[in-house]
Amino acid sequence: MEPPSEFAMASAPEGIGESLWEEVPLPELLEVAAGADSDAALEFRKTLGMFATGVTVITTLVDEQIHGMTANAFMSVSLQPPLIVISVDRRARMNNLLREGVRFGVSVLEERQSVLSDRFAGRGGDGPDPDFELVHDTPLVEGALAHLVAGVVRSYWGGDHSLFLGRVEYVRYGEGTPLLFHGGSYGRVAGNPRVFSELPPELLQPILDVGVEREYEDGEAIMRVGEPGDAMALVVEGNAVIERGGRKIPVAPGELVGEIAVLDGGPRTATVVAEGRARVLEISRTALMGVLEADPKATSALIAVLASRFREST
Ligand SMILES: Cc1cc2nc3c(=O)[nH]c(=O)nc-3n(C[C@H](O)[C@H](O)[C@H](O)COP(=O)(O)O)c2cc1C
Repeated sequence: MEPPSEFAMASAPEGIGESLWEEVPLPELLEVAAGADSDAALEFRKTLGMFATGVTVITTLVDEQIHGMTANAFMSVSLQPPLIVISVDRRARMNNLLREGVRFGVSVLEERQSVLSDRFAGRGGDGPDPDFELVHDTPLVEGALAHLVAGVVRSYWGGDHSLFLGRVEYVRYGEGTPLLFHGGSYGRVAGNPRVFSELPPELLQPILDVGVEREYEDGEAIMRVGEPGDAMALVVEGNAVIERGGRKIPVAPGELVGEIAVLDGGPRTATVVAEGRARVLEISRTALMGVLEADPKATSALIAVLASRFREST
């Protein structure tokens, strides 16, 4: 079958296939919004950073040597035939290793693999050496959430990056949640944590939607007595303890803390401390008010929660 015209190969810059996209605007033609930072290149990077992605490690085996590189510029292209594309900095060593006919692996990182991501991005990253598994003579990072093996079928000039179009020949995925990258930092899927909670669904779901995830180390205060009640928290993972007047009340995953002071803005009547490492969803007063105003069912569900707390404490 004849390849589509945009895949045509001709005189290629440094071994990269010719593309129709060579005539890109010069950087100084990039318009940034009035009032924005005057550095157009920085504005461009920051704008692109608003697009949240997962994180992958691209791997390849050349001359018995495994090479890996962190990349978030990974995209699905076609289902039939199965095609993907990655964008690789022309200064990266990976750019010199990938060529048409060379296979590469894509390991989609799991949410606890940010150290590995840093490591394959040349940013240090301590921890044990990663283990690889060879599939179709291609290294894949063990413990990742999903894996693909592809062979480069075309490569394109992409400015200071090269685009490698890969035909996928092996796929597999597992259970878990992905590591995210957004605005230059790692993140986790916060809108959908797996919380087993006794809270009524009318209240739980909107809280999951607006909550912001925070992690606390053992002994760290999640909230302190006397502080304004500017947020309440839903314990998602780990445990906490409410310290009030010499009493200690344990809080398990799925339970709320600070839900009384948040209603009138404070001050808090107790200190809440993480027991072991704890992950909580923090719901600001403003976000909570928005939830309650948007849905009367959420409001009556919160009243029911407060009523049962009142009964427990009397
Ligand atoms: C989250 C994250 C995403 C990245 N995405 C890419 C990418 O898509 N393409 C790329 O060329 N470099 C990307 N990088 C930078 C490379 O990982 C880094 O330059 C690496 O050192 C290149 O390795 P190499 O020169 O050994 O091949 C990314 C780095 C991070 C931390």
